[in-house]
Amino acid sequence: MDISRSVHAIRPSQTLQFNKKVLELIKAGVDVVKLTAGEPDFNTPEEIVNAAIEAMNAGRTKYTDSSGIVELREGITRKLIEDNGLKYDSQDIVVTNGVKQALYSIFKATLNDNDQVILITPCWVSYEAQIRMNGGEPVLVQAQDGNRFVPDVSAIRQAITQKTRAIVINSPNNPTGTVYPHSFFKELAEVAIENDLFVVSDEVYERLIFEGHHHSIASEPFMKDRTVVVNGFSKSHAMTGWRVGYMAGPTQLSKAVARIQDHLCSNVNTIAQYAALRALTVNNDSMKYAFMRRRQLLAEGLSEIGLEFTMPEGAFYFFVDVRSFLGSEYKNSLELSLALLEKARVGVVPGSAFNYEGYIRLSYAASEEDILKAVQRMRIFFMGMAYRPS
Ligand SMILES: Cc1ncc(COP(=O)(O)O)c(C=O)c1O
Repeated sequence: MDISRSVHAIRPSQTLQFNKKVLELIKAGVDVVKLTAGEPDFNTPEEIVNAAIEAMNAGRTKYTDSSGIVELREGITRKLIEDNGLKYDSQDIVVTNGVKQALYSIFKATLNDNDQVILITPCWVSYEAQIRMNGGEPVLVQAQDGNRFVPDVSAIRQAITQKTRAIVINSPNNPTGTVYPHSFFKELAEVAIENDLFVVSDEVYERLIFEGHHHSIASEPFMKDRTVVVNGFSKSHAMTGWRVGYMAGPTQLSKAVARIQDHLCSNVNTIAQYAALRALTVNNDSMKYAFMRRRQLLAEGLSEIGLEFTMPEGAFYFFVDVRSFLGSEYKNSLELSLALLEKARVGVVPGSAFNYEGYIRLSYAASEEDILKAVQRMRIFFMGMAYRPS
């Protein structure tokens, strides 16, 4: 059967592919340390699980409003006021199947053919694919390691054309762990207003910040009407499999996204919505503190090996510079990542998956024991290689 041109153009997700490869090896009994995960390795807190059981026992197992149960949407509006100083009405919230579906529906609702959307690289794998699936054209602007991967607003300005509709930002960032400073949001807001653009702000790692503070660009003057905030429970409450996210944005956009959802999936799993409602009241900071300890452990290990990296301020990733290890043996981050897997039995994700060559992403959503094991193996791998200073 012929597959449509728009779907042909989509690259499979390299992060998922790598994760799959690692899992296959583990299943086959190979002792691989997995630093590929894009999800917390903790269980969903018991209270949240119990809320789901209670919902089922109470017969809350039917369709809901396609935007989500009103209690959850109201709870989300309270969260947005308390944590972000953002005042939304519950009709401006749409509960979605994870942040992923919120983003897809936003692009579907806003893009016409060949509209351009600016992405800051390195960036999470799915933005580009989703923009293409909706007829848009991603325009990539590189953030620089030298600037802690904080995007250069003048480079964003230069990338704007008549066709630019939107800019996607993600802080705390996957894959770099960077938390953007307030000054960046202020400058970007000016650019968005001057050029009549809207901003998609992916804040899914908001609760995982170890240094600095979270700031939503929607709270900058005149920005709420031209920003759509996407967030969810996957990372904050170790709920990746429950698939609950949400968008908060201008009413017209929220209505359009709800209309898409009507026909696409009716609503997010009802039981999961009740679990998310409980999650709003569950403090899961113990997970954050565990990540902080692991971050320290991995930073020390990588430094001992002599690998260079920008210390991540949030999320649970290190984006490690491996440029000096690339050359005739391993031409790019993909080849190096495959070698790390095959020779050192450590699973990482190549920077190319995030549209950024010369780097690898290490996730520390892994036990302290595994992190130490990975460091030991990487030490042998990298120190055993002929080092080629750049
Ligand atoms: C930056 C970013 N946005 C969105 C998502 C997807 O989150 P969800 O599980 O809520 O769909 C991820 C998952 O890895 C992510 O890293």
